[in-house]
Amino acid sequence: NDIEIGIVGSGSMGGGMTLLFSQQGSRIGCYDYDKEAVQKLMDEAKQDENVDEKLVHGFTSLERLIKAFPKGSGDKQKPRILVLSMPHGKPVDGIQNDLLPLLEKGDIVIDGGNEWWEETERRQAKAREQGVEWVGMGVSGGYQSARHGPSMSPGCTKEAWEYLKPYLEKWAAKTPEGEPCVMHIGPGGSGHYVKMIHNGIEHAHLSILCEVRALLHQQIGLSNDEISDLFESWWKSGPLRGNFLVGIGFRGLRFKEGGGIKHAEDGIVEKIEDKVTQDVDLSEGTGTWSTKEIAERHVAAPAIAAAHQLRIISSDKFERLKVADNLGLPQPSQAKEAKFDKGEKDKLLETVQTAVYGAILGAFIQGLDIITKASQDQKWNISLATCIKIWRQGCIIQSDAIAEFFLPLFEKFPPSEPINLLKSIPEIARELAKTYDAQKKLYTIAIETDSVAPALGASLEYLKAVNCRDLDTNFMELELDYFGHHNYDIKGQAEKGHEKGKYHTEFAKMPGV
Ligand code: 6PG
Repeated sequence: NDIEIGIVGSGSMGGGMTLLFSQQGSRIGCYDYDKEAVQKLMDEAKQDENVDEKLVHGFTSLERLIKAFPKGSGDKQKPRILVLSMPHGKPVDGIQNDLLPLLEKGDIVIDGGNEWWEETERRQAKAREQGVEWVGMGVSGGYQSARHGPSMSPGCTKEAWEYLKPYLEKWAAKTPEGEPCVMHIGPGGSGHYVKMIHNGIEHAHLSILCEVRALLHQQIGLSNDEISDLFESWWKSGPLRGNFLVGIGFRGLRFKEGGGIKHAEDGIVEKIEDKVTQDVDLSEGTGTWSTKEIAERHVAAPAIAAAHQLRIISSDKFERLKVADNLGLPQPSQAKEAKFDKGEKDKLLETVQTAVYGAILGAFIQGLDIITKASQDQKWNISLATCIKIWRQGCIIQSDAIAEFFLPLFEKFPPSEPINLLKSIPEIARELAKTYDAQKKLYTIAIETDSVAPALGASLEYLKAVNCRDLDTNFMELELDYFGHHNYDIKGQAEKGHEKGKYHTEFAKMPGV
């Protein structure tokens, strides 16, 4: 009854991985301090016809779990492998404190939750003192992928990766060609970092699709069934082919009942409260961390930031209603009927598809720029091709057509070379530029109808700003120099890069001012 892999945490992700790994023939020991949760998982294993229940063992004692590994394990030849699937922060510290005294030199602990990368590096240093490998690994795709094959981003030493590779490749989601969606990202906290930015991009994609659904429904006059059909057509072919969120979107829009909702003619989406909360503390989580990184790394990623802002505004409906009472401004208009003839409408829907593609592509570009910058700062040597490869299946930002577009371009670049994709890879700039008119048209509809579309707006404004040869920020420079002795450059004389300007004017001393 020797355990091959230990899982710590029997929630939806840990439980899913327990069943997945045992389905693939490994004997799994799953620990949880909560006896009932362990029992629930054991019952699930019993009921699951794809799983041999004899391969699933439940533990409520960490000590007993570690002892259940075969004798002789716990060294470089036969390290124990433990996968943590639990909330980030203090709970992981607690488990690390409990685990380290039980483990031996060479054992490997994989933290498979979302975690702030510096916390991972702190724990890696602590584990290293004892010769234990601590791997920070993003596991993406939600509980369903945990059960059937997630996309994974491990950050660890090369040695740990080499040992784990056959296991991880077996567990990972596979592309239709059979390639596993797991690769070594780099050392230290790089794996958790890439997962965090995956989630930042995920936020932007969620917002873009949610904003466009509202425009299609309320302003272009499509029912949710029609939007579902449209999303299905986008998912099947064209530049949004294989986009995971478009795919689950068209399925979700078809539901007429669910939860407490008995029957909603126009789909249950209309009955769901417009309030996006989060499981973790409001000051934490991958969305918050991603936007912090945008500021700290000085990378422009406004679609990711705007999406997170919308989530913040959305989360407290009570407060929002009070603010709306005070403001009393127009609400998004409720046209809800087709204002176009068939030909016009088909053309408009094509434009909408191109605009959504542009915004989704833009969010990828912004997220990849953050990863590149962090990789250079931290000397992680992350390959963008690797990121795209592991995101081809099993994760939330999977987007088949976009991956096919990016991959050959990234494979031409040595790891981490491009720091700004629109500067370094002209093909990417040209592709994004093709969506400009469509993005403008879609956002114009939002403006004219008082619709809320911050991620669509930020996607367009980003494109306008990075394309602009003369940004008019000269006036900002003037004012900054006026009050803050900030200095400015003279047009045409600017040094390259971020260097501060050479000139200053004592504006306050000018006569007549
Ligand atoms: C994934 C998801 C997942 C994510 C939550 C979203 O890749 O499977 O990104 O890790 O964190 O499902 O929840 P929050 O945004 O509320 O953290």
